[in-house]
Amino acid sequence: MNQDQLKLEACKLQKELTEHSYRYHVLDDPVIDDETYDLMLKRLVEIETAHPELKVSDSPTLRVGAPPLKSFKTAPHSLPMLSLDNAFSNEDILAFHQRNLKALNLDRMIYTVEPKLDGVAVELTYENGVLVLATTRGDGINGEVITDNIRTIDKIPLRLTHAQAPVPKFIEVRGEVIITQADFIRLNQTRINQGESAFANPRNAAAGSLRQLDSRVTAKRPLDIFVYGVGLARGIEFSSQSQILGRLEQFGFPVNPHVQKKIDIKGVIQAFGHLESIRPDLDYEIDGMVIKIEDLVLQKALGEKIKSPRWAIACKFAAMEKVTRINDIIIQVGRTGVLTPVALLEPVNIGGVMVSRATLHNADEIKRKDIRINDKALVTRAGDVIPKVVKIFDQERKGNEQGFTMPETCPVCGSAVQRQKDETAVKCVNAGCLAQLKERIRHFVSKKGLDVDGLGKKIVEQLVDENMVNSFADLFKLEADQVAGLDRMGEKSANNLLAAVEKGKSVSLARFIFALGIDHTGENAARLLSKQFKDLDALMGASKADIIAIHGMGEKTAAAVTDFFSVMENKILVKEMILAGLRPVNDLFFEKQPQDHPFSNKTIVITGTLSQFSRSQAKEKLLGAGAKVTSSVSSKTDYLLVGKDGGSKLEKAKALGIRILDETGFMEIMDSVNPS
Ligand code: IVH
Repeated sequence: MNQDQLKLEACKLQKELTEHSYRYHVLDDPVIDDETYDLMLKRLVEIETAHPELKVSDSPTLRVGAPPLKSFKTAPHSLPMLSLDNAFSNEDILAFHQRNLKALNLDRMIYTVEPKLDGVAVELTYENGVLVLATTRGDGINGEVITDNIRTIDKIPLRLTHAQAPVPKFIEVRGEVIITQADFIRLNQTRINQGESAFANPRNAAAGSLRQLDSRVTAKRPLDIFVYGVGLARGIEFSSQSQILGRLEQFGFPVNPHVQKKIDIKGVIQAFGHLESIRPDLDYEIDGMVIKIEDLVLQKALGEKIKSPRWAIACKFAAMEKVTRINDIIIQVGRTGVLTPVALLEPVNIGGVMVSRATLHNADEIKRKDIRINDKALVTRAGDVIPKVVKIFDQERKGNEQGFTMPETCPVCGSAVQRQKDETAVKCVNAGCLAQLKERIRHFVSKKGLDVDGLGKKIVEQLVDENMVNSFADLFKLEADQVAGLDRMGEKSANNLLAAVEKGKSVSLARFIFALGIDHTGENAARLLSKQFKDLDALMGASKADIIAIHGMGEKTAAAVTDFFSVMENKILVKEMILAGLRPVNDLFFEKQPQDHPFSNKTIVITGTLSQFSRSQAKEKLLGAGAKVTSSVSSKTDYLLVGKDGGSKLEKAKALGIRILDETGFMEIMDSVNPS
């Protein structure tokens, strides 16, 4: 191949790869598969390595990273990157509004409200549409140059080619680099598996990933971005904040879908409450809401203070992190015998919930973070996740701290514990351990299992400790006067409890299988099994091959299920329950064949607050109809079922032209099929 042909091939690959990447990351509508993309990219890397003169400044190969740097250079920001003043209450927001009205001599004001993203601020400089420089905020005046690292973030355009508007000669785009919750959990899991320390939170993970001298490391981190403003711009005029965001979106930048224009301060305050309420459902961390004056002429008229603008303010949510003391470390023995160290905390209110315990995961984690009894610790509670210790303040130690070592024996039954091969977990392997029994019973009667109302932790403990329950089957043999004799029980509550247990006897087969707590057998696997096997006898007689043959079923589950039913004690246990009156109903096997259902084989996402039933009830109905329920909207989604406040998923579904159903539409389709 001669030089001209190579140049042509490189150009073609650069152009096509850029287009495919845009389709994938911005439009969410790829037209080639990942493997083809990787092959094309590999070929381009090959050509550019052999002929560096063919590498252009926006080549898609820059996405994989560049050779490592020795240190970061710094570069000044054309305009300072300011921070924001904080508002902590509605009064603070009103005071901000009144100040604006007074200073500008106006009687009304339009604002935009935006989530305050909890990540790392960056500035991206484009000259003639090409990304030439990227910096961190630094001290606001000078930032660190992280161009190679930024180029690895797929969602950041290397060239502003897709603009419906003319590309400006020069523009500085500002935004926040983040890591989504799901990516953060995956990233930390991989790090822990590889013996590396876990990141404390997504912001630290994003900051650490951007501060890599070797951008090939950054390329492997799941970085994401939302842009929220511009610095200096030439060859383009803006008149409002919404217009800036609209243009940036046209240029191919991700703009947060929860940005809204509000025509009065009442709407602004409502938006703050709303944002705080949807905060736990967002897939990325936000720590407040930013209010900005919409009109840029008015922004300019108000101007800036040294550190922050007068035209914007950050309203902070209640902190989801608090400092408290670790009073003790105890061991909890789980259903499968795993020993988990738990910190008993001096109780603190975190985001409206009193927290007095935090999981410490395992001995390795305690060692890595050097956690000791009596340490002062930073504790977080994110969404509905179990509280955890982020870090301890070792400099504030007083000398009365005590280290913690995992016990050699189970604290409940006293038998020797075993460290599992290739796992960090330590297990009590005594099947008769009462701690395990209590946890297994709790799982058996839990909401997703037999759903026995009124059978909480305290009662389960008493039933086991009083030797009234030694197995699942014993639950069905309880008698009212026995139960009434328990602590905090009376005749009436005992009768209620027995009625609830009685109701549990006609649980669905899928729930019953889940309730048994077989390894690798969660809700989904249990449903698949129930669909396939008519009744318990059929399931118990199934071979490993029969189970693997079920579409969507894994080998581990198949092995665990057959292992479980090959143990004589378990067979007897099931028999005993049947004798005691348990009659699981297989609604899935006998239900109308899902193929006939309009939702059968359709991929559906549920979002927003439903009014007639809960999201999990809707999910159950859909699964029953043979639909697949997923959590994120993509071009593969067939329907979006939306309740009140659909948020980003609704926006995305609209943009992708996906069919949107409200509750009524959903029920109409559901009811159109009569279960026979
Ligand atoms: S505007 C002069 N908008 O908050 C305006 N900032 O305390 C300053 N941030 O360093 C930036 N989300 O990292 C703006 N929607 C948003 C933001 C946002 C997060 C961060 C940004 C900045 C800090 C200001």
